[in-house]
Amino acid sequence: GNETREHWSGPVGFVLAAVGSAVGLGNVWKFPYITGINGGGAFVLVYLGCIAVVGLPLLIAEMSIGRRSQKEPVGAFSSLAHAGRGGKLWGIFGWLAVVTAFLLLSFYSVVGGWTIGYFIKAVSGTFTPEAAASSGEIFDTFVSDPVQSTIYHAIFMAACIGVVLGGVSRGIERAARVLMPVFAVLLLVLLGYSLTLDGAGEALRFMFYPDFSKLTPAAVLEALGHSFFTLSLGMGVMIVYGSYLSKQDSVFKSGLAVSIADTLIALAAGVTIFGIVFSAGKEPGSGAGLVFITLPSLFAQLPAGSLWAAIFFLLLGFAALTSGMSILEVAVAYFVDERGKSRKVATLTFGGIIFALGLLSVLSFSVLSDVHLMTVGQGDELKDLTVFDTLDYLISNWALTLGGLGVALYAGWGVSRDDLWDELKDDALGKAGFAGWFLITRFVAPVAVILVLLHSVGVV
Ligand code: PHE
Ligand code: NA
Repeated sequence: GNETREHWSGPVGFVLAAVGSAVGLGNVWKFPYITGINGGGAFVLVYLGCIAVVGLPLLIAEMSIGRRSQKEPVGAFSSLAHAGRGGKLWGIFGWLAVVTAFLLLSFYSVVGGWTIGYFIKAVSGTFTPEAAASSGEIFDTFVSDPVQSTIYHAIFMAACIGVVLGGVSRGIERAARVLMPVFAVLLLVLLGYSLTLDGAGEALRFMFYPDFSKLTPAAVLEALGHSFFTLSLGMGVMIVYGSYLSKQDSVFKSGLAVSIADTLIALAAGVTIFGIVFSAGKEPGSGAGLVFITLPSLFAQLPAGSLWAAIFFLLLGFAALTSGMSILEVAVAYFVDERGKSRKVATLTFGGIIFALGLLSVLSFSVLSDVHLMTVGQGDELKDLTVFDTLDYLISNWALTLGGLGVALYAGWGVSRDDLWDELKDDALGKAGFAGWFLITRFVAPVAVILVLLHSVGVV
């Protein structure tokens, strides 16, 4: 019941936890690599637009729905709409969020495990100049060893479980209060170093000088899709985190702080990585291998390269951990709130199930590497997807966007405008700000999301 519901210690703890969820592999690995593929500046500008116009409004929508209902996604999605407006039917989106949480964490944790493995490699001096040329083989050997990958995946899941067992303010918030400042300092150190390298000017030009001839419609939709992933939208995280918020804390200011922090960190990670890439005379568009293959080979050639590599993989690991625990919290909150399980039982049981599911992703690089669940792409660009690839594809392209659509439709059409105004009237948004936010949530966001979905099926 509500009287025993846990809460953050205050607005700062909430913002740190939410920034911890938002800042993850999406900022440090995916944003730089898709920016690299899509030609830099113009893509970055479109991405910033997507965050401001769609991402931030949906973030505010999720936080408000959570704070209003004081419930996890399944409860939050079904309790605020009257029968005439869909009532309990909206709960389907809550279910989608919980199922997505299980699947997403199962492979997010595998990649989180890689960061631990790579940190250990860096500390033990693997990335020497002689190893620079073989970073691709180092990666292949690493991921195709099922025992090693399983151990790192287990360590990562154990860390998520350990934190979530501690609860909201004494577990999640406390971890974020320690990990996020350390993360920020490590990133600043690495950014400062990268800015001293020869490639820094080129990196800044690449990221901030827009060349619109390089922009494709597909890139615009990719930017929009990524704006959801990076803000942890469409999966109920911000609903759950918002549900631990008390009424006097500002949803608008918190949402603004979270989206600004997430964006600045993505930009800083991009400048840092491209500074290193351009200094070595390499191309920015190396794709998904950017962080685990290209970068290690470049670190290996730098003076004190092991140190820089260690700093990099440690910060990446911290970012992944604070995101991973937020995903686990979605599943745990459901079983605690709706099924009356204790936090301890829910965390251990569902953390364990997610770990077991993750083994399918671990083995996608060895025993199961020939098992393909689906084929995507067109023409000669067909790609067979392993279990790992399939989960990544279905979640990044489908589940989160559908979830985002659910949030926009629910806030825009399911919940009454008066209820939302009542929830947000004391917030810094003001009457005009509220009206603008509501219009975006009701019309602009759903249209944008539907375009992304149509693009996924090849219609647009
Ligand atoms: N926002 C996280 C990142 O950028 C990923 C994430 C998505 C976390 C959805 C929770 C929910 O890496
Ligand atoms: Na992010």
